[in-house]
Amino acid sequence: MLGVCYYPEHWPESLWAEDAREMVELGLRYVRIGEFAWSRLESAPGVFHFEWLDRAIDTLAQAGLSVIMCTPTATPPKWLIDLYPDILPVDIKTGTVRGFGSRRHYDFSSENYRREAMRISQVVAKRYGTHPAICGWQTDNEIACHDTAHSGSQNAKIAFQRWCKQFYGTIDKLNQAWGNVFWSMEYQSFEQIELPILAVTETSPSHQLAYRRFSSDQVVKFHDEMVDVIRAHAPNQFVTHNFIPMHDTQTDNFALAKKLDFVSYDNYPLGRTDLFFGDAPVAQFKKYMRTGHPDFSSYAFDQSRGISNSSFWVMEQQPGPVNWARHNPRPEKGMVRLWSWQAFAHGAEAVCYFRWRQVPFAQEQMHAGIKRNDNSRAAAYAEIAQVRDELKLIADLAEQPVQAKVAIVMTTENQWVTEIERQGDSFNQHKVEFGWYSALRQLGLAVDFVSPEHDLSPYQLIVAPCMPIVSQSFVDRCKASSALLVFGPRSGAKTSELTLVPNLGPGLLQQLIGVKVLSTETIRPDCYEELKLATKSGNSYQSTQWREELELSANTRVIASYHDKTPAVARDGRTLYVATLSCNSFLVDLFADLANELQLPILRLDESLRSVQRGNLHFVFNYSAKVQQVVAPQHADFLIGGSTIQPYDLAVLRLR
Ligand code: GLA
Repeated sequence: MLGVCYYPEHWPESLWAEDAREMVELGLRYVRIGEFAWSRLESAPGVFHFEWLDRAIDTLAQAGLSVIMCTPTATPPKWLIDLYPDILPVDIKTGTVRGFGSRRHYDFSSENYRREAMRISQVVAKRYGTHPAICGWQTDNEIACHDTAHSGSQNAKIAFQRWCKQFYGTIDKLNQAWGNVFWSMEYQSFEQIELPILAVTETSPSHQLAYRRFSSDQVVKFHDEMVDVIRAHAPNQFVTHNFIPMHDTQTDNFALAKKLDFVSYDNYPLGRTDLFFGDAPVAQFKKYMRTGHPDFSSYAFDQSRGISNSSFWVMEQQPGPVNWARHNPRPEKGMVRLWSWQAFAHGAEAVCYFRWRQVPFAQEQMHAGIKRNDNSRAAAYAEIAQVRDELKLIADLAEQPVQAKVAIVMTTENQWVTEIERQGDSFNQHKVEFGWYSALRQLGLAVDFVSPEHDLSPYQLIVAPCMPIVSQSFVDRCKASSALLVFGPRSGAKTSELTLVPNLGPGLLQQLIGVKVLSTETIRPDCYEELKLATKSGNSYQSTQWREELELSANTRVIASYHDKTPAVARDGRTLYVATLSCNSFLVDLFADLANELQLPILRLDESLRSVQRGNLHFVFNYSAKVQQVVAPQHADFLIGGSTIQPYDLAVLRLR
């Protein structure tokens, strides 16, 4: 269940056999190779050199390793760029070409690149599609990372015009949908349509949303074609892709995942924590600086499981300091093991580490590996060896499903809506969603992430922290479900074209709850005001950043109110509407009330402890420097650890 990312082309061939032997000794079973090796596989058009890769695969296979082969399309070589300069994407902020010399320097709308990418994918797939040492494939690498879904090229513009024609049919419909009468933005033909970039001030939100949808479709189309190419030659090997965090995406992840056997995720908790929580006050940030926030990795794991609709892999796990965040701390001793186990606890089938050995040259020379560049063993080595030994204690791990009764509804499209229409600086969709997720996790509730099209029947509590665009079919399925439903601010407020709904927010959701949003304000995060929960009249919480004024119909009750006693959270039957952003303790108490009502067992642990169940296995993780005591659930035996949990340590119990 463990693996590693390896680059045979970075090392003398004399090292390969010993590397492979040591990988096996460390308990690694999978090796991912080849995702950036195009220049070594094809040195000029049609001049191929596969012998070295054949030998590398044979060496790994002889040691007993299974290989995950990649298409090398994230790094088109220089000769290809020189042959077809239109491969390079155009920066949408400056209008300048994004040049050669790093990676992902390709435009999803370049027909030349599409053809060349499929050609090299086919060559590689043909050569290795039935190779006995190859168990599966990774498409490309972190597709659309480094903001590459969006390009401002001429190719992108023409493709966007075609997309608009197909989507809207007539130019009148498009003008109407985008509100182009405003500021004289009307077009007379599809050929006139501009990309919504480089204008004097903001462009129409509807235009921007259409461009996001188009850009995502371009990525998915490119990727789908690559999956087909691989499958045509590798019918018995799995195909996956290594996703970047869902909150950093310009692609509809559910659409991207559709053709894959399962989703893989690249987990860099420290680098990502630095980028995601970088503006948090020091008191909140510093305690998790070398661990990542206790919910941050699992947030991505649960999302990956949801997008996969089954189990998932961690294809790259951070083994030490990375090189690319604003600050790059070293993980606390024990964290590489803890993150690995947390991935398994949340449903991972395999965890692969990035990378085998720190490379002494080029862009990632400051990025740790399992081994240092002098071939000595870095700190992660012993931790991975421990995971190897511990995995043997739980032979049936793979058969244990994560069974959540709580679901978070997520869509990439609504993330785009909030990025396009910020309405002030303080509403950040990812942080809103993460805040709701974290509150549920602090109660020990297992959480699934689902798309609005997903079957809602397994769930008793369904929450939608940020869903401005809702469809009638989703509302119908909410009506048919018997779950408690909780919607966050902005829900239902927009049409699918990112215009105001005619009946005021929450729009179509008024079929579920009798509320109307009369006005919306956004305020500075430090200018919070009091919020009171009706069930806990003594407690005072904070309303912050986003506030809506509600009008309630006769059947709707007030669950919480603002400092001026007007309604902030309302409930009608099974549906709640939360009209404001709030502090963490408010969400925890609100969800605890709802879980109690539903008789869902909750567990309030120390703020740095997290627990989760996978089948009959119960996991507890200690994200703090404190020794912690856990009360074992009744009828449970410890498989790993005991009731005293050391700093950055964990326990696994089996429920009888
Ligand atoms: C990403 C990439 C890898 C590597 C690592 C470094 O996840 O997929 O190629 O650059 O980051 O952390």
